[in-house]
Amino acid sequence: MHVVRGKNIEVLFSTEEIARRNEELALEIAKGPAEDLLVIAILKGSFVFAADLIRALHKIGLAPEVEFMTLSSYGTGTVSRGVRLVKDIDSVVEGRDVLLIDDILESGRTLRFARNLMLERGAANVSIAVLLDKQNKREEVLEADYAGFHCPDRFVVGYGMDVAYAFRELPFVGVITGDA
Ligand code: IMP
Ligand code: MG
Repeated sequence: MHVVRGKNIEVLFSTEEIARRNEELALEIAKGPAEDLLVIAILKGSFVFAADLIRALHKIGLAPEVEFMTLSSYGTGTVSRGVRLVKDIDSVVEGRDVLLIDDILESGRTLRFARNLMLERGAANVSIAVLLDKQNKREEVLEADYAGFHCPDRFVVGYGMDVAYAFRELPFVGVITGDA
């Protein structure tokens, strides 16, 4: 348990656990389509995971190009929910092996949108790496090719993920359990 700015935060996945898992994920990714690899980090939540994962890829000899795309969900009802492209990548995708990196796969809407966009642009392969998989929240038929951990159905913060723009800087993934 950590106390951060007056909140009790329970650790779900520690810094060490995440670091170990990232090395395993990198080895799995290297076995897949990874020639001329274009990594696309989906902002904002994935920036810490992506930073660590690309360095784990480097350690085993891969040299991906790294890009960033900002996607945002809109709508709160079940009918109107969608995904909006806020900031696009600059690189050409046609013929490339693309690896999309996100923090959490939940409903699947964000990553389905990103994957379809890359396929429309002619990517040779599109694979998906996520740190956390909230499997029982899925609303789209979509699975990650590489998933760090199964995540319980709780709202998590840290390691890039926020609640109301806070707690992205925590070096672990945790859950706020109350006021300290
Ligand atoms: P979905 O798969 O399109 O439903 O959305 C997944 C996105 O929702 C992730 O990329 C996160 O940005 C956000 N998200 C889902 N669950 C959490 C959470 O527990 N904490 C922080 N962000 C979350
Ligand atoms: Mg996100």
